Amino acid sequence: MTGRAGGPRRRTAILISGRGSNMEALLRAMAAPDFPAEAVLVFSNRAEAGGLATARAAGIATATLSHRDYPSREAFDRAVDAVLAGHGVEFVCLAGFMRVVSPWFCERWLGRMISIHPALLPAFKGLDTHARALEAGVKLHGATVHFVLPELDGGPTILQGSVPVHDGDTPDKLAARVLEQEHVIYPRALALVASGQVRLDGERVVQAPTDEGAADA
Ligand code: GAR
Repeated sequence: MTGRAGGPRRRTAILISGRGSNMEALLRAMAAPDFPAEAVLVFSNRAEAGGLATARAAGIATATLSHRDYPSREAFDRAVDAVLAGHGVEFVCLAGFMRVVSPWFCERWLGRMISIHPALLPAFKGLDTHARALEAGVKLHGATVHFVLPELDGGPTILQGSVPVHDGDTPDKLAARVLEQEHVIYPRALALVASGQVRLDGERVVQAPTDEGAADA
């Protein structure tokens, strides 16, 4: 399959643990034949994850393994990696995959694995980001798509989307506003990475030179 500009479409897996609304946004984007990534697998560590049924309904292959069946984080991650290899996966999107991935897995997928976090990193890493943002009294909040490095919710930023915090917001209201942004920025970030327009260089995100830039040089 070829994508925009005739390049190969990156064979992409989405890893989820729950409802999978970001997964849906990614699947919608990847359904376009000129999108530079194609969805080949949705994987979950929880067989009951709601997003699995959505993926199956969209005709995407699914797989599950329970982390409880493995003696260590890395043992589980090696089993996940074998599943990904079996589907010829080239790119990984973590989308509400509520597992800390092992350094081994991070290293193996370095530069080819991205994730979304519901906060403007580096603020509010970890859980309960919306309640913590309200508690801190910030006026802007949002979401971040980043490359995954072996650091929880860290890693170089690819794209961020911000939303205002309103008086009277509750964590749920704020979460809904942020989630809308997540669904916009995650497909855009995947397109940037899968098309090679941006890439990881050490611990920084760099943009590939455009044709215009080459002509100017
Ligand atoms: C999303 O808000 C995502 O940003 C967050 O989990 C939610 C999953 O929702 N991820 C993290 O907190 C990762 N640190 P979804 O299953 O509907 O996409």
